[in-house]
Amino acid sequence: MSLQVSVVSASHLHRNIDAVTLLKAEHRYIEDMFLELERTETPVQKQQLAIQICTTLIVHKDIEEEIFYPALLAGTHSPGAHHAALVEHEEADRLVGVIMDMSAEHEFFDAKIHVLSEMIAQHVREEERIGGTFSTARKSSIDLMALGQAMQDRRSELLGTAHLVR
Ligand SMILES: [Fe+2]
Ligand SMILES: [Fe+2]
Repeated sequence: MSLQVSVVSASHLHRNIDAVTLLKAEHRYIEDMFLELERTETPVQKQQLAIQICTTLIVHKDIEEEIFYPALLAGTHSPGAHHAALVEHEEADRLVGVIMDMSAEHEFFDAKIHVLSEMIAQHVREEERIGGTFSTARKSSIDLMALGQAMQDRRSELLGTAHLVR
């Protein structure tokens, strides 16, 4: 699929930010896109925005799974939250796949988007709550600056391979 999507995900971010700040900024960006999608009425724009949301979610999930979560697991030795987060990713990922292949004119399109946005909101609350993965990472000895840099590099690579127009 050729995506003519303007992914500005976290383009307002600067280099040299720590991993948690980067992930939180992406969460805010994703929330903004869901809000924008709610206000959008034309099917073409809805479709484009949905693809943009899904693409951003895929890249966000990938950098968490490839870099952030393993570092967290190694640095904190708490598999419970780690495994739960992966399961939540898996569930959201299935819905992302369905939405990516769905027309915005399909009668279930809005419902799928709504359910995805609820799933993501719940997952984000878990990551950001006191005692959640992000605050656990902050309290650990993990080098969050180095991790943030690695995640930004990987993010650029992933966006590049997705042939996205930035
Ligand atoms: Fe996550
Ligand atoms: Fe996240």
